[in-house]
Parts: sequence; structure tokens; C-alpha cells
Amino acid sequence: MKATLEEIGRASLEAIKNAAEASELEALRVRYLGKKGELTAVLKSMGSFTPEERPVIGQLANDIRMKIESAITDRAEEMKSAMMENKLHSETIDVTIPGVKVRVGRSHPLTAVLDETIDIFIGMGFRVAEGPEIEYSDYNFTRLNTPVGHPARDRQDTFYFTDDDSVCLRTQTSPVQIRVMENSSPPIRIVSPGKVFRKDEVDATHSPVFHQIEALVVDKGITMGDLKGTLNTLVHRLYGPDASTRFRPHHFPFTEPSCEVDVQCFECRGKGCRICKGEGWIELLGAGMVHPDVLAGCGIDPDIYSGFAFGVGVERLTMRRFNISDMRLLYENDMRFLSQF
Ligand code: PHE
Repeated sequence: MKATLEEIGRASLEAIKNAAEASELEALRVRYLGKKGELTAVLKSMGSFTPEERPVIGQLANDIRMKIESAITDRAEEMKSAMMENKLHSETIDVTIPGVKVRVGRSHPLTAVLDETIDIFIGMGFRVAEGPEIEYSDYNFTRLNTPVGHPARDRQDTFYFTDDDSVCLRTQTSPVQIRVMENSSPPIRIVSPGKVFRKDEVDATHSPVFHQIEALVVDKGITMGDLKGTLNTLVHRLYGPDASTRFRPHHFPFTEPSCEVDVQCFECRGKGCRICKGEGWIELLGAGMVHPDVLAGCGIDPDIYSGFAFGVGVERLTMRRFNISDMRLLYENDMRFLSQF
């Protein structure tokens, strides 16, 4: 029996030394020390030994058990530190390798000018109101004094979504005026930025999708003077204090009187050059006093209240602002172009 025990001790310690994985170690523990393990079997058979043999065998078996236990613990420790060593090694960071440079992005020029313009309006007490790009033709045209058959509908042809043409891609941000007036009562002071869509061929100054900002003010005693003051503030803030404006009579179905507003050419200061096509002035936006019928159609009494509105193209503002001569550059997203702003 002594020899068997010694053999168990020798074989188990050898196996433990050679174990490569924690699972292997556990299997060895079960094999030798488990309930049905080899060493346990010897201890269980104690009864069959003589009283003289028992303490000797018992002592030996216990010694071997302790040796196996501590061999397992030691080997487990070894494995753990080898693993840690490995991990440290494989996860080493070489802090001397040059890093990948992070390129910091910036706003697209259209977004930058849009944000700046909205800031200017917010500074004047306006709030931002948004409207849907897919709009009822009723809001986009009819309630803006442009009934079916009105020639302005042809000039602003667009995509329609229903057989009866009652839903369309909006051609202007002016329908937001109707939405706001319908849902609130004066005083009203809003700007509404967003995309608009028209049947325009792409060229240096046109795109079938572009952006406008609409402004609407309705209150008691609003006059053309308020319109001029607001627009001049906008132009001065965007283009500098000596930028001068010119108000030309014009026609829009939903404003009366209406005007177009030009800004003096910043390149030639009014003398006439290539940028202003010899005019000395550059057209900036459409504006006017909200038509009494439009107010009344939204439940606002035109005998008590009056208002002004204007709609300005963000592309146009941006092109003037950065001296960009071709609108297409704003949509091509060529980094060589965009990184200049
Ligand atoms: N919606 C008009 C356009 O797109 C511009 C405009 C807005 C004119 C508000 C007057 C008042 O041409």
C-alpha cells in the first residue's frame, strides 16, 4: 500500500507540474482528491489495514494529500501570473508611435450663415417656428392668396403627391406664416428656416432644392417702417454697417404693398461690376405687408392688426456673404472648397 500511495503522489505531482490549463488542473484535483479520487479511495479503505499499519498509512496519505493540494495551488498561481504577463505584453501601447490626426469638422457655409441669421433674429426677439416640407397646397398657395389658376402657381411648379394636387413639396417657407397665424394670436414674431422645392434648372444661381428663411411679424400698428428697420438691421449685421439697401416695388400675392430688397454690391460699391452684372445692386429677398385677406383668413382682424413678412434665400445670403459665384459649389461637398470657410 505504501508503494501505491507513493506512486499516486509521484504521478499526481508530475501531472500537476505539466498541466497547461486551469481546466486540466481541476480535472487532476478531481482525479486524486475528489470523492471518488484515487487518494480518497485509499483513505476509505483504511478499515482493512491492521491497527499498526493504519497510523503510518494515514500519515503518509495525509502528507501526499497536502503535497497535492499545495502543488495545485502553486501551479494555479503560476498560470495566473503567466497569463497576466502575457496580457501585459500583448496589450503594450507604444506611446512613441505618431497618432492618427483627428480632423475637426466645421459647419457647412450654408449652415453657418443660417445659424448666424437666426441668431440675429433671436436678438431682435423673434422665435423659430418650423413647418413641414411636404405641405398642403392650400397652405402653400391658396391661403396665401394664390388660388388654383393663379399664374404664380405655374412659376412655382412643384411635385404633387395626390391626384387632386392637394399635397405638394412646398415652394416657399411662406406657408409657415399661415400655420403660425392659425395657431396663435398676435403679437407674433417668428422666423422659419427650411428647405423649399421648385421646378428650376440647375445653374450657377438656381437649384430645384434650396433654403429660405421666412420672417413674420403681426401686431397692432406694424408698418413698412418696421419692415425696413428689421431688414436693415439684418443686412448691417450680416454685411457690415455700411451695406446699404434699396427697396423696389414688386408683387407678391400675399403681401400688399410688396417689395424686393437689394443690397448695394459690396464689390463695386454701386458702380457696376461682374458680380452685380453691372447693376450696382444685388437682389436679396422679397418682402411686404401681410395682405389683409391673408390675415382675415387666419382669423386675425386686419382692422386691428397689421404685419410684415419677408422671405430670403439662404443660398443667396451665403453667396453674397462669402463671395461665392456658383451655387453648385455649395452642394458638391468638395472638401477643397468647403475647408476655405
Ligand atoms: N415667398 C416669397 C418667395 O419665395 C418671398 C416672400 C416672403 C415675399 C414673404 C413676401 C413676403 O418668392
